[in-house]
Amino acid sequence: MGVEIKIENLTKSFGKQMIWGDVSLTVPAGEISVMLGPSGTGKSVLLKTIIGLLKPDSGAVIIEGTDLASCREKELYEIRKLFGVLFQDGAMFGSMNLYDNVAFPLREHTRKSESEVREVVMEKMDLVGLLGAEDKLPGEISGGMRKRAGLARALVLDPEIVLFDEPDSGLDPVRTAFLNQLIIDLNAQIDATFLIVTHDINTARTVPDNIGLLYHRHLAMFGPREMLLSSEEPVVRQFLNAQRVGPIGMSEEKDADELAAESGQELPPLPPIPPQLEPSNGIPRRSQREPGAWCRENGVKPPPGSFEDDMTMATGA
Ligand SMILES: Nc1ncnc2c1ncn2[C@@H]1O[C@H](COP(=O)(O)OP(=O)(O)O)[C@@H](O)[C@H]1O
Ligand SMILES: [Mg+2]
Repeated sequence: MGVEIKIENLTKSFGKQMIWGDVSLTVPAGEISVMLGPSGTGKSVLLKTIIGLLKPDSGAVIIEGTDLASCREKELYEIRKLFGVLFQDGAMFGSMNLYDNVAFPLREHTRKSESEVREVVMEKMDLVGLLGAEDKLPGEISGGMRKRAGLARALVLDPEIVLFDEPDSGLDPVRTAFLNQLIIDLNAQIDATFLIVTHDINTARTVPDNIGLLYHRHLAMFGPREMLLSSEEPVVRQFLNAQRVGPIGMSEEKDADELAAESGQELPPLPPIPPQLEPSNGIPRRSQREPGAWCRENGVKPPPGSFEDDMTMATGA
């Protein structure tokens, strides 16, 4: 089923440095959501705040009626069992083989016998396509395989929420495509809430049901994929289309002179909204929506060429 994550007016600083402020959004249960943002905008800090590893200055993270920002340690410990987390580098123990790495949470948090542990470990290894690699050490395998192993470990306690921190970082485009397909297939199969942090635009454009964008110490926008991919809001438009023209500069936001120099420059048209990745077995995910549904329901004309065959339907032509 998956559970919803409700984030209310969340603000986080380290000393005098505010990372982001007044962040509010609801990550819908069972859906795939992507949080985008330039490097250093506090995406990892947001994930750590969501699982209660970091305390916000103010605001709430509500999961099943409990506010993780203010609850007691004991409650936090219980709620954490709902989460599986894939850390940025897979966060494997280097001296343990993949089997023991994946078995670790089961041995730590359950009273399962070794034969029960084996059953779960092999099931999850199979799920991520790593059967046969159990005896390998993390240092002996590729980055893509390490991510898969990290994912298997994130899944062993049957989480209701899976958080991914840049699953695509350091992977080549082909490995990223395979991993993205795996994410879609997993969501279809385990039906948990997925929140993926990335700065990969292609992942954001094709994988999720919802997209958010962190920029300049606040949440610029969060909503259905089609809403952001048809948005003319300058920051959203610039980031999702990897354009130089717009408010985002080389280091932070552009200054007044830089923006003035750009004014009057013609923006390239928005590219078509690509189809969303579908499960490889062809059976739709529970949260999957018809291509163009959001645009139709909200009277938004998608960029020309969107949804391919569905074009005539979407434009009513
Ligand atoms: N534990 C911490 N103590 C102090 N500053 C931190 C800590 N964790 C992260 N930061 C700072 O918060 C900012 C955002 O970091 P991060 O969330 O890692 O960015 P992103 O994941 O979007 O690239 C950075 O400036 C980083 O230096
Ligand atoms: Mg990060």
